[in-house]
Parts: sequence; structure tokens; C-alpha cells
Amino acid sequence: MITVPMYDHAAHYKQYRNDLDEARHRVLERGLLDWGPEVPAFESEFAEWLGSAHAVTTNSGTAALKVAMLSLGIGPGDEVITVPNSDISSTSAIHHVGAKAVWVDVEADTMNLDPALLEAAITPRTKAILPVHMYGHPADLPAISEIATNHGLYLIEDACLALGASIDGRAVGLWGHASCFSFAPSKHLGAFGNGGVVVTNDPEVAEKMRQFAGYGQPRERHYRTDPTGGFLEHRVEGLNERLDELQAAMLRAKLPHLHEFIWSRRNHAEVYRSSWGSLSFELPVERLGCVHSYRNYVLRAENRDRVRTALADAGIATGTPYVPPLHLQPVYQSLGYGPGSFPVTEAAAQELFSVPVSPELTSVQRDHLIEQVKALSD
Ligand SMILES: Cc1ncc(COP(=O)(O)O)c(C=O)c1O
Repeated sequence: MITVPMYDHAAHYKQYRNDLDEARHRVLERGLLDWGPEVPAFESEFAEWLGSAHAVTTNSGTAALKVAMLSLGIGPGDEVITVPNSDISSTSAIHHVGAKAVWVDVEADTMNLDPALLEAAITPRTKAILPVHMYGHPADLPAISEIATNHGLYLIEDACLALGASIDGRAVGLWGHASCFSFAPSKHLGAFGNGGVVVTNDPEVAEKMRQFAGYGQPRERHYRTDPTGGFLEHRVEGLNERLDELQAAMLRAKLPHLHEFIWSRRNHAEVYRSSWGSLSFELPVERLGCVHSYRNYVLRAENRDRVRTALADAGIATGTPYVPPLHLQPVYQSLGYGPGSFPVTEAAAQELFSVPVSPELTSVQRDHLIEQVKALSD
């Protein structure tokens, strides 16, 4: 039987083995496993790839969100507006810096923060808006940034699912005061472990980000090249949530292929659209002017659970990204949001499911998936 996994990291490694092995050997033979040249080199290469002035790496997308907020001075007493249908990190990072997350519901088509609901959620304590580009489709950044500007709020993009997405030719990640990406293995640019990055155009914020990610010191203090002897100098109470040299070297090896990875996801999505366009399933939208980077290919079906079971029987992996939503998770019961609090999010949570769309998906696997989904449509 043909099996269709969500990802195939081993196949991915084999395809880029030469470059990856060279990167790994370079780091191991140099013997500089910490505070070496790979991290800053990757940061400049990534910033250039995206078109941002500064990129500061972290050891996860979650850490990137925390570092972004700490560097912008967000903490206890502050509120940050985000969505309840995301990965828990979008919300937990807000709480981990001591601020309060305020959820607003999402648009029914893109599943992204609904700008029409935003102003009602703003209070005198609001410090930032943190939209999440769900599944790879950009949130309505023109509308959201206008509201942020009018109210003097920071815009922090959670772009962990959306590397490669854009609106009117301007990449996601370039709209916010700070924007976060994840390099978890299954993301567009996956490390062989965890990783993340926060980007900004503000040099002072970037320096704070480097400090918050690395023990609260300027980086030079760690490079042991300081002629005065490299005494410690902790300027802020920082974290130790940095990317390591090995991951940075492997990511450098993959970065030249990032456009291929994104193209490949978009190509799968295009084939799905042309194959499934007339079926009873609801397919993901791509709004005019937007580029969706398809970290997840999310469909909706009223009989979602039956469909998933049938696909599993045919050897096909599916997912239900971020279901149940955050306000219905045990950890957030005490916040007092019950069922009915976010109707659009909750309705989608009953119906959505994702199918494989990773670059490693072969045409044989994709054809199998396409046929099986067609056979299940009413
Ligand atoms: C929307 C979103 N934000 C943040 C994160 C956290 O990223 P990481 O797993 O690298 O910590 C994820 C991870 O999937 C995510 O999907």
C-alpha cells in the first residue's frame, strides 16, 4: 500500500546530504560549538533573504516570541491581542513575559485575526497586537497595522507558519516592529532540531534581542576576544534561548534552497486546487494580492472525522492543526471563556483537517491522496 506521511525528514536529509554533512563537519572540526561564526553568518544571510535589517536567532519560535516582547518592553500589566486558534506558543509566550493575552476571533475564510473585531478589544493596557499568519496565509496586515498605528501599539507578527508568504509583494515579517519565525523541523526552513528567529528593522531593538536571547550580555562579551579580559556584563535579565552553531550551519546549508521548498508547497496546493476545486470540501483561500506559503494545507468538511478515518485506512496521514482551540484547553479553563466565546474559531475546529503538503511529498503519494480525497467527497 502507498503510505503518505505528513513529513519525511529522512528523505529530505538524503536529498541535501552533501551540503548538510559538509556543514556539520565544518562545525565539529572547528570545535567551536558555542559563540562561533555560524550563528551571526546565518543571521545576516537570513536577514538578507527576507529583506529585513536585522535577524536574531533563538532556539525556537516560542523563544523568538518571548525575546520580541521582552525587547519591546512588554511585561506585567500589559495586554497583547492575539487569536485563540493558533499554536499555544502565540499565547503562552505573552504570559511567560508576564503580560496578559486577549483573544479576538478570526475571519471565516483565512482563519486569521479579524480586524473588524480588533478595536473593541483595545484597552488602555494594550501594548501590542500579535496576529498569526495561520497555516501560511498572511493576516490582513494593511488593516491591522493601520489600527496599531492609530492606537500607538506595537505590531508583532507571529510568522512561524508563514515564511515565504506576502501581501502585495511585501513579505510577512517585514510589517511588524518585530516578527517571529520558527525553524522547527516541519517548518518551511526546518532545522534538525529546534530553532527560531526574530527580525526587526530597529538596530536598538535588535541589540536588545541579542541580549535577551543570550544571558542579557552584549554578544562581544561571549566571544572571548575582549582585550580587557572579557569580564561579564549583564545589562538585562536575559534568557539562554539561542540557536546553536550546528543548527545554524545546517540552516545555512538549506537557506539557498528555501525558494524551492516554498515553491514546492505552493505547487502541491495548486495541484490540489485543480483536482479538488469542484468537490464538496472547502479548500483554503488565497486572497487577491496574497501569497500563501502553505505550511499546512487545511480543508474543511462537515464529516471531517469520517474523512480522516477513511484516509488513515488508505495510509494517508492527516492533522487537525490547533484543535481544540486555546480557550477550550485545560490550561486556560481558569480564564473563564466557555464554548461560544469565539464562534468562528469553534465552528472551524469542528470541520478543519490538514493533508500532507511538504516538499518531500512524491507525485505518486500526491496522486494517491488526490484520488482518495475525491472518492470521499459527497
Ligand atoms: C503559529 C505558531 N507560533 C509559534 C510556534 C512556536 O514555534 P516553535 O515550535 O519553534 O517554538 C508555532 C509552532 O508550530 C506556531 O505554529
